[in-house]
Order: sequence, then C-alpha cells, then structure tokens
Amino acid sequence: MKILTILGARPQFIKAGTVSREIKSYNEINEVIVHTGQHYDSNMSDIFFEEMKIPKPNYFLGIGGKTHGAMTGQMIEKIEEVALLEKPDWIMVYGDTNSTLAGSIVATKLHIKLAHIEAGLRSFNMKMPEEINRILTDRVSNILFCPTSTAVENLKKEGFEHFDCKIVNSGDVMYDGALFYKQFATKPKCDIEENYILCTIHRAENTDDKTRLKSIFDALNEIEEDKQIILPLHPRTKKIIQNSDIDITNITIIDPVGYLEMVWLIDNCDLVMTDSGGLQKEAYFFEKLCITLRDETEWVELVSCGANILVGADKEKILKAYKNHSKLANAISQSEKFPRKFKIQDSNLNLYGDGKASKKIVEGLLSDRV
Ligand code: UD1
Ligand code: UDP
Repeated sequence: MKILTILGARPQFIKAGTVSREIKSYNEINEVIVHTGQHYDSNMSDIFFEEMKIPKPNYFLGIGGKTHGAMTGQMIEKIEEVALLEKPDWIMVYGDTNSTLAGSIVATKLHIKLAHIEAGLRSFNMKMPEEINRILTDRVSNILFCPTSTAVENLKKEGFEHFDCKIVNSGDVMYDGALFYKQFATKPKCDIEENYILCTIHRAENTDDKTRLKSIFDALNEIEEDKQIILPLHPRTKKIIQNSDIDITNITIIDPVGYLEMVWLIDNCDLVMTDSGGLQKEAYFFEKLCITLRDETEWVELVSCGANILVGADKEKILKAYKNHSKLANAISQSEKFPRKFKIQDSNLNLYGDGKASKKIVEGLLSDRV
C-alpha cells in the first residue's frame, strides 16, 4: 500500500513524527512524503525532521510565504503532478492548514482515497482560514480520523453518517507524541526562572488585528512584572511586532524551539498562555492550566473540565484569568494545581484516546485497502 503524506506546517511535522514512526513498522506500507514548503525556516521545519526522525521528504515544493490563494493554488498544481507520478492508494493530510486543503483537493479530483487526521474539529468561526480548510477537507475525505468524541459528534450533526465515508474515533496523535517524546525533553539554553509562564502567539485573528495584538501584549507586560514569560516567537508574529510600537522588551522572547525543547518548556512551566491549537492540548497532557488567547476553541472539552480558560484578546479578561490562576497556585500545593478529577493518568477520563491513535490510524487504512 502506498500513502502520499502531505506536510507543510510545524504542527503537521510534529503529528507526522508519531504517525510516520508507526508506519515504518509495517513492511507492506510505502510512505512517500511531500513537504509543501509552507513553513521553511530551519527552526520551523528541518529541526522537527531531524530530532523526531521523520523520513526526509521525497518531494519539497518550496511554496511558502504567500497569500492564501497563491499558496493553495500553487500547492494544488504541484501536489497533483506528484500524485499522478506516484499513483498512491491514499493521500493523507493532517489538521487544517492550506497544505491540508491543497492535498485534499488533489485527492478528490484525481479520485484517490483521502484520509484526514484530526478530522471533525470545529470552531464555528467561519472567518478563520483553518475552519474553511477543515470543513472542506472533511467533506471530501474517505476516512476521517477524529481525535475526540466531540469531533465525531460534530460530523454526525453535519450529516456525515449519510456520506460515503468512514468516521473513526482514533484519539489524538499529539497525545501519542507527548507520551513518547517526553523521555527526550531537553532544557533550552535561555535563562529560565522558576515558575515561568510559557506563551505562544501566532493566530491570524490576533496577529493581523493590531488592537488585539497590542491588548494581549499590554496584559503580558503587566503579568511579566510578577512572573517570567518565555515566548518562543513565531516568525509571523515577529514580523508584525517589528513593524509596530508593541513593547516586548521585558518578555523573554526566544526563537522558535524544536519539539524536544518545547516539551521541556511545557513540562516545567507553571502556566501556559497561548492561541495555539496544539499547545492547548499539550498543556493538558502535562497537567498545566491553559489561558487561551482566543474567543473560541475547537478543544471544548478542556474548557468544560476547567483545564482551559478562554479569554480572547481582552486585557482585563487576561489579567483576571491570570490572577485567578495565581490565587489557585498559592492556595494549593503544586501537585494539586491541575483539576484533580481530570488528571490524565485516570484512563477512564482521558479525553484524547489511549496513546495509540497512530496505530489505530494505520490499521484503519490497512483494513480499508483499495
Ligand atoms: C499556519 C496555519 C495555521 C497554523 C500555523 C502553525 C494556514 C492558513 N495557517 O499559520 O493554521 O496554526 O501555520 O504554526 O495554513 N513565516 C516565516 N518562516 C516560516 C514560516 C512562516 O517567515 O518558516 C512567516 C512568513 O512571513 C509567512 C507568515 O509567517 O508569510 C505566515 O505563514 P503561513 O504559513 O502563511 O501561516 P501561519 O501563520 O504560519
Ligand atoms: N511548538 C514547538 N516549538 C515552538 C512553538 C511550538 O515545537 O517554538 C510546538 C507545540 O509544542 C505544538 C505545535 O508546535 O506541538 C503547535 O504548533 P503551532 O502552535 O505552530 O500550530 P497550531 O497547533 O496552532 O496549529
């Protein structure tokens, strides 16, 4: 069986690290990897292939740093050429980026079976480019690997049970990855104080709106007077901040780090503040509270269980959530900070599967051979 895997952005490399490792253990599967080039800096791309031992891409398309239309259009053209040459049984896409959508369009137009990993997620915000990418991808997928039961329910509500496709609740491959790579966690070389906050910001709705971005950094600057904030800065946000009057001088800004350093930073921090999709879950995997700098999230189960507080970009809401967290942190011992009843060691309550999502995905593809 031949799988053509389409990757392009940082979170996809991290997810593929886990799935490709699983694929390697099956002699009957040949995985051909296409890297679209959507993310191209070495610390946004190469580092993950090296440290997570992801097979070197067979094709590198070099299509990054463009508008949505130019990027997606050029990717479709190039992925189609590769698909016609390779004639895979499956095209496999991850998540909700422009690389995901491009791979999906090629698969459906060429009548190649499409597998979507991280299917069924919804923010219900149609202004998010990711929401468009995931809805369109889900609709043309033949097999939809959902990370959560919420994702399965979302698909059912949209009538997917009546479409010609298979829905599988595989669990989340990022949980598999967190469990596996924790043993390789590496302390970054920057100055790190005790009880620091780990923060990331890159979401278009925050970075492209100067008012929102300024409001977030105003709040971070106040919080920083109390606690160190370590912020590995996404290149998108870096470029925007460089051309603005936003003050970042007191925040510990570092370059984007590899996954092994990131895992260390998550595991050892006191609190996570982010607008990242993946990091919200990783905070939970490592039993850290997360203040989410977005108005909505796809990971609603984290909000329901109290592990995640949605605050958007409103300075006062951010500060209030931080103060509440601090109160909680002072009142109870470190080990009890995380909502006890949802600790992930309790397998009955694990929201993201059993750490074997990758295996379920590969077996799902094998049992649905063309
Ligand atoms: C993309 C995804 C988003 C995902 C994020 C993960 C889409 C629509 N968005 O957003 O869902 O959460 O990746 O990080 O697909 N840049 C560099 N070097 C790089 C990569 C990007 O300088 O290696 C800069 C470029 O100026 C580029 C900008 O960042 O134009 C935005 O990159 P892009 O891939 O378009 O979107 P992200 O914000 O990274
Ligand atoms: N990440 C990383 N280095 C960093 C910042 C993030 O390895 O400097 C990891 C993070 O731990 C998570 C993934 O990148 O596994 C999330 O990617 P990102 O926030 O870029 O995208 P999203 O998940 O929001 O789509």
